[in-house]
Amino acid sequence: MRSTLLVTGIGELTTHDPQAVDTARPAAAPEAAALVVADGRIAWTGRAAEAPAADDRVDLGGRAVIPGFVDSHAHLVFAGDRAAEFQARMTGSSYSAGGIRNTVAATRAADDTTLRANLRRLVAEMARQGTTTVECKTGYGLTVEDELRAVRIAAQECDVATFLGAHVIPAEYADRRQEYVDLVRGPMLEACAEYADFVDVFCERGAFDEVEARLILDAAKDRGLAVRLHANQLGHGPGVQLAVEYQAASADHCTYLDSADIDALAGSSTVATLLPGVEFSTRSPYPDARGLLNAGARVAIATDCNPGSCYTSSMPFCLALAVREMHMSPAEALRAATLGGAQALGLTDVGHLEVGARADFAVLDAPSYLHLMYRPGVPLVHSVWKNGARIV
Ligand code: NIG
Ligand code: FE
Repeated sequence: MRSTLLVTGIGELTTHDPQAVDTARPAAAPEAAALVVADGRIAWTGRAAEAPAADDRVDLGGRAVIPGFVDSHAHLVFAGDRAAEFQARMTGSSYSAGGIRNTVAATRAADDTTLRANLRRLVAEMARQGTTTVECKTGYGLTVEDELRAVRIAAQECDVATFLGAHVIPAEYADRRQEYVDLVRGPMLEACAEYADFVDVFCERGAFDEVEARLILDAAKDRGLAVRLHANQLGHGPGVQLAVEYQAASADHCTYLDSADIDALAGSSTVATLLPGVEFSTRSPYPDARGLLNAGARVAIATDCNPGSCYTSSMPFCLALAVREMHMSPAEALRAATLGGAQALGLTDVGHLEVGARADFAVLDAPSYLHLMYRPGVPLVHSVWKNGARIV
């Protein structure tokens, strides 16, 4: 057994009891809280005065502690950037799925070392901003070989890997859509399944329609793979209803929802993953987070870090947007970025700090998690721990 660690001087400890139904308030331990880490997991939390003895001790001097962020949606295996596209958007043009093909060309041309280094740079950026669990999608390779190397790198470097061969129809298949769909659900899925925790489809105008999405989702289900969807990002479409029908772990984006979509999500275990950095970076309307929360839907917040629609790695930035622009309470936003992300990934031991959870937490240079939204843009993460070891 590894040595135990007692963390004291915690000014505010948010544990997020996953059973708690009240999403408006975080489950916070009393003032001057403490926690004990043993074997990489939370072994005890409570009042500092009642803390058990441990081998080592750290005093946080009154700083707040939150569960590490669970970034449940990111596209990190890519090369190059699309700053010029961003510039064009900010001067009037609008985002379209077609820009993905520019990153596909750059990614195919890059060697493995370059792709891995770029991904590691972004994961390190995320960690410095409090993220301890990262999901990473493929989707910029779009050949069997390029998707296989992407999903292998994602699985090796990140906590959760998602196969997104159905990101866009690559240029060379422009006149042969059905052939590409058959490639994705056949040989590409066959090659990538070993490394993939999930299969994702970008079901959208300019990407894959409902019939095509069903073929790919059916193939994933036939292999026993869990699914998630990019749904209702650029306009109202069938994505959210498909996600619920296929019992997807999450329906991501949800920018354009009608009341039937909200009801469907609320009546399901599919998590609505909101990505407000995308709306910010593409100058789009924000999703109806209040409608979802009021209806009782499960909600997660993630970055969607990618070179096209949203090149931020910052969960604190997305939290600030969720509160300011989507009218989530600070507690709801924090919960969605931790416990909500864990639910979206089907993980039960991250996103909260109850006894038995992984000791994945962020220490803030602030007396309360509220400062994450109250002081937007300020680097408030003091230190970060993953599996009980300090990583930042
Ligand atoms: O989640 N929507 C599809 N995929 C990404 C964008 C990818 C890109 O533009 O490169 C997204 O927004
Ligand atoms: Fe995405």
